Parts: sequence; C-alpha cells; structure tokens
Amino acid sequence: MNRRSDPIATHATQSIHSTDPAREGVAAPPALGAPLPHESADLHVSGEARYIDDIPELHGTLHAALGLSRHARARIVSLDLRRVREAPGVIAVLSAADIPGENNCGPVLHDDPVLAHDEVQYLGQPVFAVVATSHDLARRAAALAASDDVVRYEPLEPVLSVAEAKAMQHYVLPPLRLTRGKPAQRIAAAPHRIAGTFEVGGQEQFYLEGQIAYALPQEQGGMLIHSSTQHPSEMQQVVAHLLDWPAHRVACECRRMGGGFGGKESQSALFACVAALAALKTGHPVKLRADRDDDFMITGKRHDAEYEYEAGFDDDGRLLGARVEIALRAGYSADLSGAVATRAVCHVDNAYYLSDVEIVALCCKTNTQSNTAFRGFGGPQGALVMEVMLDAIARRLNRDPLDVRRVNYYGIGERDVTPYGQHVEDNVLAPLTDDLLASSRYAERRAALVDYNRASPVLKRGIAITPVKFGISFNVPHLNQAGALVHVYRDGSVLVNHGGTEMGQGVNTKVAQVVAGAFGLPLERVRVSATDTAKVANTSATAASTGSDLNGKAAEDAALTIRNRLASLAAAEYGGTPDGVAFENGAVRANGVSIAFAQFVELAYLKRVQLWSDGFYATPKVHWDARTLTGHPFYYFAYGAAVSEVVVDTLTGEWKLVRADVLHDAGRSINPAIDMGQVEGAFIQGMGWLTTEELWWSNDGRLMTHAPSTYKIPAISDTPAAFNVRLYRNDNAEPTVFRSKAVGEPPLLLAFSVFLAIRDAIGAAVPEAREAAPLRAPATPEAILDALDALRALSPTQAGTSAAGRGHADLPAVPAAARNQKVD
Ligand code: MTE
Ligand code: MOS
Repeated sequence: MNRRSDPIATHATQSIHSTDPAREGVAAPPALGAPLPHESADLHVSGEARYIDDIPELHGTLHAALGLSRHARARIVSLDLRRVREAPGVIAVLSAADIPGENNCGPVLHDDPVLAHDEVQYLGQPVFAVVATSHDLARRAAALAASDDVVRYEPLEPVLSVAEAKAMQHYVLPPLRLTRGKPAQRIAAAPHRIAGTFEVGGQEQFYLEGQIAYALPQEQGGMLIHSSTQHPSEMQQVVAHLLDWPAHRVACECRRMGGGFGGKESQSALFACVAALAALKTGHPVKLRADRDDDFMITGKRHDAEYEYEAGFDDDGRLLGARVEIALRAGYSADLSGAVATRAVCHVDNAYYLSDVEIVALCCKTNTQSNTAFRGFGGPQGALVMEVMLDAIARRLNRDPLDVRRVNYYGIGERDVTPYGQHVEDNVLAPLTDDLLASSRYAERRAALVDYNRASPVLKRGIAITPVKFGISFNVPHLNQAGALVHVYRDGSVLVNHGGTEMGQGVNTKVAQVVAGAFGLPLERVRVSATDTAKVANTSATAASTGSDLNGKAAEDAALTIRNRLASLAAAEYGGTPDGVAFENGAVRANGVSIAFAQFVELAYLKRVQLWSDGFYATPKVHWDARTLTGHPFYYFAYGAAVSEVVVDTLTGEWKLVRADVLHDAGRSINPAIDMGQVEGAFIQGMGWLTTEELWWSNDGRLMTHAPSTYKIPAISDTPAAFNVRLYRNDNAEPTVFRSKAVGEPPLLLAFSVFLAIRDAIGAAVPEAREAAPLRAPATPEAILDALDALRALSPTQAGTSAAGRGHADLPAVPAAARNQKVD
C-alpha cells in the first residue's frame, strides 16, 4: 500500500512554482524548502540526544519528590512532617511556609499554588516536597503523604463534573459570549431545526519525556534551571517571583523536550519552582523528575467539553442560524483556560460561514487537575461541535454530509467574514477539497460502501470527509513577538540562538534552514544552540504553532543584518553595489569576483565588521478586543481536509481505520519531510483523542487512568494500512518566512473525519433511523455499542427491541461467512 506520498516528490512539485526571490527577501538556495532530516534525527535514533535526565549530574546533586493530596477537596488541618524528615536519605522537607516569595505558578491569574496551603483543591495536588539523596528515597518518603499522621484533612464537598459546576455557575473566569446577527430569530424562522447535546473527553499530553527540572545554584546568588519547557522565559519569571529575586538572577535553559504538546507551556512551572526552591534551601543542585503516574495525577490535560447546540437550516442544509454553548472543564485554577476558551470560540466556525450565530464558552471550575494547552489549544474543541452538527443536519436531510459541508463553506469575496469579524482572505477550501476528493476517489468509495454494508450484517463500513481552517497567531496580540541571536565565527561557521524551543517538531531545523538560506550556506554550516533566557530575553512560549513563523523571521532578521554588512564590504572591496552581491553555494560573489564564504568572513573580521547580530520580529496585522471578542486575531489561516474510512464490528464495538487520505496546506514548506511528519503525527494524535484515549475519575475525584496500562494512546499499529498524506501547494499570501505556513496543530483537527466515519458506520447499521448516531467522544467500543443501542431505540422498525442491554438480540441473524469476517 502507498504508506505516504514521497517527500522528495513533494519537494519536486514545490520547486516548480518557486516564487520571485526578490519577494522573499532571501533567495531560495538548496537548504530552504528541502526535505532534510530533523537536526537531531540521528541522535533520537541512536539514543544520544541529551534530555534533562541525561545531563551528567553534578557532585552533590539531590533529588526531589512531591507528596500529593489524597482528597479532591479538603482543608489541611495539620501538617506534621517529622516522620518524613526522619525517613532514610531525606535531607529536607519543604512546604508552602518555606517559600520566600509568591506561592504561585499560575501564568495568568495568580491562583495556582506551587505547594498547597490551607486547602487542597484536587486529588494529586502537591502538598509538600521531599529532598533526598536519591530519586527512590525521595519518592519513598513522599509516599508518606498518604498517612493520616502526616497530613490531616477535613474533607469538603468537591465539584467533580462539568454539569455540576455549570449548574452552580462555578467558573474560573467569567463566561465568554460572541453574538452576531439574530441567531434566535433566524433559527425560529428556519424551515428545519435541530438541537442536541454532545460531549468530548479530555486528553493527556503523554509527552514521552515527563516533566522534569534540574536546578543548579550559581555564584553571586544566581540559579540556573534546566527545564523541559516550552516557555523558558515564563519559568525564569515564575521562579524569580517564587524566590523573590529579580529575574536577572535566574536563567532557564532547554536544549530539547521529549515532546510537549502544550503540556509544558505553563505546567512545567511547578516542577521548575520546586527544584529551584529545593536548590535554594539546600544549597545543592536538585533534580525533580516526576514519575509517570505522578505526572498524570498532578498536571492538567486537554479540556473535556460538554456542548448544547441548536441550528436552523434550509433544504440544502445551509445554516441560517446557530447557537453553541461549550462548557469546558477548566479544573481547579485558571491556568490558560481563558485563552483556550477564546480559541474555542474562534474555531466553532471551522470552515463555514455563519451569518447569525451565538457562541458561549464556559470555563467550569472543578476539583480536578487544572486543564491546560494541548495541540490545537481549544480550537479542536470549538470546531468539533460544528462538524458534529453538520453531520446531524445531513442525516436529517438524507444527504451526503459532504454536500452540506460544501454549501456552508466560506466564500471568496462574499460570505467570508468570521463571527469575530476577520475576513477569510486566503481561502483555498474549495480547490483543496476538490483535489482531495479526486485523489481519494471519495464518490466511488462511498457508493461501494453502500453495497458492502448491504451484504455485511455485522461489519459496517463508514466514510467521512472533514475540512479544517485554523487561525495562526497567539490570540493575545503581544505574544506574537520573537528574538534571535546569530553569530558568524571567523571560520564561516554559524551559531543561531532563538527564543523557540525544540520539542520534536523541528523548529531548530527550520530556523537553521532559514539562516543557511540567508547566507547561501549548506545546512551543516549552521548549528542551533539550546534555548537560553540569558541569550534571548522575554520570549513567548513555543506554542500556537508559531515557533517557526516567529523565530524563523527573527533569525532571518539577524542573518540579513549581518549579510548586509558583508555585502557593503564586498561592494567596497570589489566594486559594484551591495545589492548586487550574491550569497550562494557557500560563496560571496561581487562584481565578477567569487570568494569562499569562510575566506570572506575572515577578511570582514580583519576589517572589524561586526559578525554577529540580534534579530527581532513582531507579527503584523494582529489585534483583538477581548471585551467584544472581535478583531483580527490571526495573521492567516492554514487549511486542510481528510477522508477517513473505517470498519466497525457492531457486535463488539471494535473498529479499525482502514484508509485515510490527508491533504494539508503548509504553505510553501520550509521542510516538506518535517511538515509531513507533523501532519501524520497530528492526525494520529487527534484520532487517539477522539477514539481510544479516555480519562476516567472515580466518584471521589481520583484519576484512575494514570498510566499506559489504563490510558491508551495510539500505537504504530493503529496507523492505517493506507495512509496517503500530501502537502497542498499553496504559497502563504502573507510574507512569512519562505511563504510557509505553521503546521504543528492544524492537522490534528483532520482526525474529526475518523470519528465521523465511525458515526457513519453506526448509521449504516440502523439505516432507517433519520438521526445521526448519538456517539460520544472518545468513541471507545463501549461508546460505540451505546450509540448503536440508542440509535436502534430511535429507529421506527427497531424501536423497543434494543434496550435489552448488550445482548444485541435485535441484530439480524448472522450468516456463517459474515461471522468469519475480520476487522482488518
Ligand atoms: N510535534 C512534536 N514532535 N512534539 C510536540 O511536542 N507539539 C505541538 C506541535 N507539534 C509537538 C509537535 C504543539 S502543541 C505545538 S503548539 C507546535 O508543535 C509547537 O511548535 P511550532 O510552533 O514550532 O510548530
Ligand atoms: Mo501548543 S497546544 O500551542 O503548545
């Protein structure tokens, strides 16, 4: 089977439409646009890539572990840490009282204690920290948190569900409401109406490298923290506040993460803070590495959501009015929930024009982990409900959901304004969809499915196509800035430092390609160093998929500053104008003279030309009014679409993705190999969220799914046998670096097609029901069987026959041949 399209071929098609170099600022030399391997690929494979736990430990290094709350909500009556202090190997035990500065690691509101004080607000909340001579001894002593004589609690009534929190209007932030037009009137007057509810679960980031920090006291009262974080500047700031120090005494460094996926945007802070506090108190280097179960119990996840929706539509399924309420589980504190909810509101429209719409987002306060960023950052939670709604409309009208989607697509020049007032100026939804329909043979396969399902009583196939439009930029405008530092050494080798962090997504490779492109050098001549707050200050998190856009531009700015200085020197030395000097193939060419880059750089050094520079970038055009929820929050949009086909066993609820065709717009790709990897990874990760990954809390608020034994992320065997992924040729209309587009998050939403294909297969099992399968997400086998039962109850011919539990006595007799069919 065709596992994926050939990245070399992708590159070849790209180079055909190579654009005007003058427009780019940088001519397109080989390093840019080439499908080069990730800069650390060899190291990842050989095991040599250094993560924080691999840094050789300094002599005297101590290890920290956290003592966790065993109640979802309780008052701390007394904390008696004597037994913990006396445990073997323990050097120090720290509680909230030991914090010299602010006891907070909340990034926006300061409502997030590092160590609980007075009250615990979720089961798993850190109450004290143990510092011991080894990791194991620290963990053993920390486990004493479970005994009553160490921490005594007075249990309080917890709020554990979104529904409860909503009923009590228990929110971490005020509700967000965006209204355009007159949705209520338009719905009431529409020829057809639907209303319903839907729910989607949360998702654990499951970075392979867990949360970790290693704090090293420095001379003159400094602190260096190696943190596995997407946001070194925030780690620096939060630690400085905790210690009550000025920021310049704290440095934070991150060479790479073994995955972040949003989980290390803010929530690396607690670990950095505890390691720093322990290092301050003991005077020793201290490492805090969370065990996987503790990481699960302590940190927040993707927000799960409960929806209420209502829509009015015409005979073609065109939306006339819609109302959506999204109740998100924020958990016990605000964390990034406000921004997540805002992005959810701004993505309800997904690819569709909504003339009259009301969108409400609630950040429900529950006594569970504080939910946070996860790839898509609320965007997936916003767009999913729209796709579910359109699917339900199609079923009601007995139409192909594709047709209903297409009549609602944003137009070009009309029907192009989003609910928040930004025009969709670079819309490629229609041609992209057509391209994918042709390559996936959608129509033909949909017809074939009808025959298959008619002949197959137990196994049912389903197919679905879903598009995505995803806004790129932080929707807090001031975060859209970045800095970089480029050094050219006398031998012509180049070192780049930028504010972005590497988490596997390839930002360092792409930034190196940009700098290599600016100097006309092969990629080997450019090295990217660890991210370090001592080198580039006041950086934003590497998030919102903007890492390469922002840091690529900042590094390009720095490189062009140096290049301009070199060009002036070349013109002065050899004649001609600086504009006429070319940097290509490792050489500098001016006025007919060609000289090796390294040689020319040495000359420039002798002539006392500055060979290093900083660079800065601030995204143009973006603005946002947080009060009215309107503005131009996104610099541009990224687009994509996917067709997924599944087969479902209607007796067991098991299913398999048999084929997926993905077409995604990464602009003019800086590196098609890396972008393909991002598209594939995001799609599979999105599929995990919507199908197998289930978070489950017990009645007392204990997260029961806190390890891979009970929480199932997709494995390589879940990748479909036919997985046809292509990049869509589409130069960014905005002058981004190389006219590329951000790619990290948008393709995650393409996994909606898997979920809706499962719904389609369930519908095929009960074809006479005119409602869409009431399938919840994640679509676990249990959820699939529940949906089958519920749909049968709705069916005019099968009503009353299905509710007999899981016996499925109502299924038609299964012919022997069909019983032997395998889901494969
Ligand atoms: N890819 C890998 N391999 N590992 C990750 O942790 N995080 C995702 C995405 N792709 C992630 C990833 C998320 S949540 C974001 S916001 C972007 O990468 C961040 O990087 P970028 O802005 O450089 O694309
Ligand atoms: Mo990504 S969720 O913006 O870190």
